[in-house]
Parts: sequence; structure tokens; C-alpha cells
Amino acid sequence: MDRINRLIDKLEKEQILSVKEFIEIIENHTSENDKYLFERARTVRERIYGKAVYMRGLIEFTNYCKNNCLYCGIRRDAVNAERYRLSKEQILECCKEGHRLGFRTFVLQGGEDNHYSDEMICDIVSSIKELFPDCAVTLSIGEKARESYERYFAAGADRYLLRHETADNEHYHMIHPKELSPENRKRCLSDLKEIGFQTGCGFMVGSPFQTAEHLAEDIIYIYELQPHMVGIGPFIPHHDTPFRNEKAGTLEMTLLMLGLVRLIVPHVLLPATTALGTIDPRGREKGILAGANVVMPNLSPKDVRKKYLLYDNKICTGDEAAECIACLGRRISSVGYELVTDRGDFKK
Ligand code: 5AD
Ligand code: FES
Repeated sequence: MDRINRLIDKLEKEQILSVKEFIEIIENHTSENDKYLFERARTVRERIYGKAVYMRGLIEFTNYCKNNCLYCGIRRDAVNAERYRLSKEQILECCKEGHRLGFRTFVLQGGEDNHYSDEMICDIVSSIKELFPDCAVTLSIGEKARESYERYFAAGADRYLLRHETADNEHYHMIHPKELSPENRKRCLSDLKEIGFQTGCGFMVGSPFQTAEHLAEDIIYIYELQPHMVGIGPFIPHHDTPFRNEKAGTLEMTLLMLGLVRLIVPHVLLPATTALGTIDPRGREKGILAGANVVMPNLSPKDVRKKYLLYDNKICTGDEAAECIACLGRRISSVGYELVTDRGDFKK
């Protein structure tokens, strides 16, 4: 057996390797090694979650954002973005439709938009929990004070997604404006975990200036944080950002990261992301086969779909949620897995 496969075996047993060993895997993998890794990742995932793929209804409720991340299509300076906000009533309407379609998790995602005060967020969360007590609510609304996170949790929010974007501090500064700091990002993630949220971090693969060492640091950060969820997708340039001419991340590297993350945090809830489906027509299926076990179809009203564009050529912006579920159900069955409708909580 070659050296990379031996490292993969070691990883499966010990769940962690040194930065140097991860770099070796990242820089020297072959399609044979990948195949071997994905088999190990699927075995681990099936032992814990069987063949189930969980679905989350994504409600993109505002594309206003006070931040200016260099990669993001809804950054403050993206003047051509047509901005919108959903009212509480519109959000509840999405949940109602989602519940009818079988969703038992709603993910409220938005830019960092101060129009929504903590009171408003708490009111929306508690209304969803009251109307749909069998559902989980996930928030993905960015960096906040610890007290705000505590209030959301008290209002009934179950989970929180906040990608760390890159674990390397220097790299973080290269893809963010100076007012954002990696220290605060990481502070948010440890607060969220301590408060009791099922917590998700994550990163983009192939973001500008990213090296194999940065990816190795991402993997090690995830091992240290022990999150419940990890969102990984390829970076894809957006035409209205400073990174418009940069190259997108690759399918191969994204799949490799999914497989590695499954092995280092075996119980993790790991989505096959829309960005992965955007760079390859069967990207999400391939993600499932590399160890992913979640999909996040869009539940936002059809007329706002095309306005929540973090990157170019995003798929599924013209489809009804019902169509996406049917489509995803077929795609997932085609690779031997099963789309299920339960809450899909983290299993310990
Ligand atoms: N390409 C891919 N992913 C992106 N995100 C933001 N902009 C892009 C892009 N251009 C990701 C970030 C963010 C998540 C909501 O979307 O990682 O945390
Ligand atoms: Fe949206 Fe296929 S998942 S159309």
C-alpha cells in the first residue's frame, strides 16, 4: 500500500495527523487514494447515520450586509445587488410550505443586517418553534455578541452556522476587510458551542491565496473545535467582487476535504453544498459519496432566489422547493442513499 493510503489508515484510527502529514495528503493524492479515502469515509458515516441524507430548508431572508468580505456577492460594496428583506410573515409562510413538503429543519440565513434587531430575531425564532414544535431552527446570521447568541438560544434556536472561512489568521486577513478579525470569528464559534447550540463552522476550498498548509490548518481547527456541522464548498468567483477574476476551487479538492472531515469528526453533519452542485453537474452526488450526509434545498420565495447570489451561476434559483426535493431525492437514490425528512440531529 502506498504512503498516502497508510496515512489515511492512520487518520481513521487516530482521527488526527500532523500539519505536515495533512499537507502530504493534500499535495500528493491521486484518484486511487481518493477512492480509498471516500470508501473509509462512507463506512464511518454509514456506521453512524446509515444511508440517510437529511434535508434542511434554507430561507435566505435578507441579502443586506454591513460587511465587505472580498469574495462575497452580497458584500456592502456590491452596488448592483438588488437588496431585499423578508418580513416575519413571509418567513413563516416559507416554513409553512416547507413543513408541508416534509422539512423538519429551517435554516434562517442572511447577510449581517442590523435591520433585524435581537428582539425581531427572537420573535421570529419563537414563532417558528410555536407553530412547528417538531422542527429545529438553525440561525446563520453572522458574528454577534455573546449576549445576542444567548438570547437566540433562549428563544428556542437549536443550531447556528458560522463558517470560520479559513483557520489561518494571515489568510483570513487576505480575504476579508480590515475591520473583520479571525479572533472574533473564532470567539463567536466557541461562544456558540459553550451556550449549547449544535454549532457549524466551515470554509471555502480554493479561495484566493489558499495553500495546502491553510487547508491542513482548517482540518486541525475543526478537530479542535469538534463542531456538530461543517459547511464546505468550493470558492466560486462573483462578477461584482474584487475576486471576480480569480479561479474557482476544484471538485477534487472539495471532495478530498469532505472525506477528511468525515474521518476526523465522524459524527459530523456535513452538507453536499449548492456551490459543489454549481461547479459540477453531479457535484452533490459526488459529495454524498465522499462522506456528506446533508442537503440544503432553498425554501426562499421564488422571486428573491436570484437576488441571493454569493457567487455566479448558482443552481436551483429558478426551481420551486418541491421540484428541488424531487430532484434531490432522485439524485440521492441514484447513488444508493435515501433522502429523509426527520430533524436529523447530531448523533453522539
Ligand atoms: N463562493 C463560494 N462560497 C461563498 N461564500 C460566500 N461567498 C462565496 C463565493 N464567492 C460562502 C461563505 C459563507 C457562506 C454563507 O457562503 O463561506 O460563509
Ligand atoms: Fe434544485 Fe435539482 S436540486 S433543481
